[in-house]
Amino acid sequence: MVADTLLRGRTLSFLRWPESIDDHAAYAYEEDGGLLLRDGKIVAAGPYAEVERQAGEGTKRIDHRPHLILPGFIDAHVHFPQMQVIASYGAELLDWLNTYTFPEETKFANAQHGRRIARLFLDEMVRHGTTTVAAYCSVHKASAEAFFEESHARDMLNIAGKVMMDRNAPDGLLDTPQSGYDDTRALIGEWHGRGRQHVAITPRFAITSSPEQMEMAGTLAREFPDLHVQTHLSENHAEIAYTCELYPQAKDYTDIYDRYGLLGQRTLLGHCIHLSEREADALSDSGSVAVFCPTSNLFLGSGLFDYQRFRRREKPLRIATATDVGGGTNYSMLRTMDEGYKVIALNGEKLNPFQSFWQLTRGNAEALSVADKVGTLEQGTDADIVVLDSAATPGMRLRMETVGTLAEELFLLQTLGDDRAVREVYVAGRPAKSDLGAIA
Ligand code: GUN
Ligand code: ZN
Repeated sequence: MVADTLLRGRTLSFLRWPESIDDHAAYAYEEDGGLLLRDGKIVAAGPYAEVERQAGEGTKRIDHRPHLILPGFIDAHVHFPQMQVIASYGAELLDWLNTYTFPEETKFANAQHGRRIARLFLDEMVRHGTTTVAAYCSVHKASAEAFFEESHARDMLNIAGKVMMDRNAPDGLLDTPQSGYDDTRALIGEWHGRGRQHVAITPRFAITSSPEQMEMAGTLAREFPDLHVQTHLSENHAEIAYTCELYPQAKDYTDIYDRYGLLGQRTLLGHCIHLSEREADALSDSGSVAVFCPTSNLFLGSGLFDYQRFRRREKPLRIATATDVGGGTNYSMLRTMDEGYKVIALNGEKLNPFQSFWQLTRGNAEALSVADKVGTLEQGTDADIVVLDSAATPGMRLRMETVGTLAEELFLLQTLGDDRAVREVYVAGRPAKSDLGAIA
């Protein structure tokens, strides 16, 4: 039997969206907090003195004071086969895909390559404090098998899918409507619901899926209504124009996915930058999630996601945030929210630090419909936890001398923080960051 673990530190967990920087009722913060972990779950949370009373004899005690203890970060859109695409110079979306991304992804025909990158990818996620991702694999079924094997071995709650793509890409990167369907079904049978693994139906985007493949993706979504669907929508003007040429009968880009039954509460749509009001209404009506990928949107010059307008409109959108590595430029969700803050500032708005950290944790968990399991420190949820050091670097330490409030500290972590600020990560109650091996 594995011993219980008792963590001590400054605990912070969100209860709901913080309306303003003074909305202290939106979160639970304990200056001297405790978390009791047993069998991968949080079995008690609150003031340390109270939680400590419930700890038995053999409990392992870990004192993280003066650090902050938060739920592990969630990355709602990331491409694991793009670790060797990140930092590719000088192209907008369609050229970037054709020049760098598609050739790189063809390498995942080799299952051994997939296993190596899956391992290094999840190492990198943990190193940066991310405990749950919604990931795209490559078109090759073996890449998804490699991802799930690695994720399951670490007992991580992850969502992932084999990309479906049957046109407008190199031969080595194409499936067919039938094989895309069959391979996804086989993955569902093998992996969905095994441990903490979730399989997602993953048509890459309308440009690389024929109408026949979109039909098959819609069939899967009908057959497996509890599965996530993930794809890309409205990222770049040239992409939108080409997509609308390929599907001339659709009202607009969003309508393509709607026609094939691919919108819904579990649909995650990467980017959503250039949506019309009609498209935003369609997302809102269906409960689909718009995924904000700030570093990628800036890096590829795609545009400025209008976060606050989408939240405030009469029919608000559900929003998640994500790195979108390798279009995105950093694995860190702290770096991601820093860039997100700047994008929102360019739209003339602000996202306050409580809202940012809500988004990284509970907000993304709600958007992914997994908030009953992860994204908070509530009793009964899974023990996926990040420990943050706000004075991790000399510059941070110096700035901390002038920080007087929790809001200021969170904003400092977001603005200057990265993997160095992540002191420890717990996945299903077990220390995961301190357990990482050297890169092989
Ligand atoms: N659209 C279709 N595929 C991709 C991808 O891999 N990255 C990004 N950013 N957009 C896409
Ligand atoms: Zn993407």
